[in-house]
Amino acid sequence: MSEDSDAPVLDHAYDGIQEYDNPLPGWWRMLFLGTIVFAGFYGLYFHVVGWGRTPGDHYRDALATYDEKRELRDRAELASVTEAELAQRARSREIVEHGHAVFRTRCVACHKEDGSGHIGPNLTDNFQIHGSTRLDIFKTVRGGAPGTSMIAWSEQLPASDVFAVAIYASTLRGKNLPGKAREGQPVGPLEP
Ligand code: HEC
Repeated sequence: MSEDSDAPVLDHAYDGIQEYDNPLPGWWRMLFLGTIVFAGFYGLYFHVVGWGRTPGDHYRDALATYDEKRELRDRAELASVTEAELAQRARSREIVEHGHAVFRTRCVACHKEDGSGHIGPNLTDNFQIHGSTRLDIFKTVRGGAPGTSMIAWSEQLPASDVFAVAIYASTLRGKNLPGKAREGQPVGPLEP
């Protein structure tokens, strides 16, 4: 207790200890009350009435825009891929090797190292469950087979990987390796 304080001393004493009557300054209390009033308005503005847009709202908007753009891009991509393009790219060693690398890391668990089938069908025989062309193979790899363990790989891999691995899968057809029993419809050789 400093000797030279001129604040009045309060009457109560605890074990002989007394305290000065030193209230917080007026400006401080106004500021404090101000924050309480502000919080009330803030809560009303952003959360009760909903005039204000929270970071969560901005995030949801951005996500919706992203999904929309992605869907458009995916549709454009699907529309632009043709059987002829897939056939032509299947002759590029670089793309087939890229596809093979993706296949080794993502597909062998179900289709086996050589594509002869395990949980998923044998990709080397001339039988196909979904369609018959390279484009059908591409669509199955891209969009998956709903209701089975074959997922939509476009949600896991960049478009270039999906493209390459679908092309690689198409190069397996007709190799007729012994493996999983035939599934689907008999299909002829792929168009050159
Ligand atoms: C978790 C297991 C699993 C993985 C991993 C998997 N597949 Fe499949 N795949 C399946 C199953 C099961 C089917 C059969 C779907 C059906 O019956 O409609 C299938 C079907 C296919 C088909 C269509 C075959 C047909 O006869 O129409 C292709 C092509 C294919 N997968 C390629 C791939 C490629 C390429 C990858 C890697 C990017 C891959 N799969 C990864 C399980 C898998």
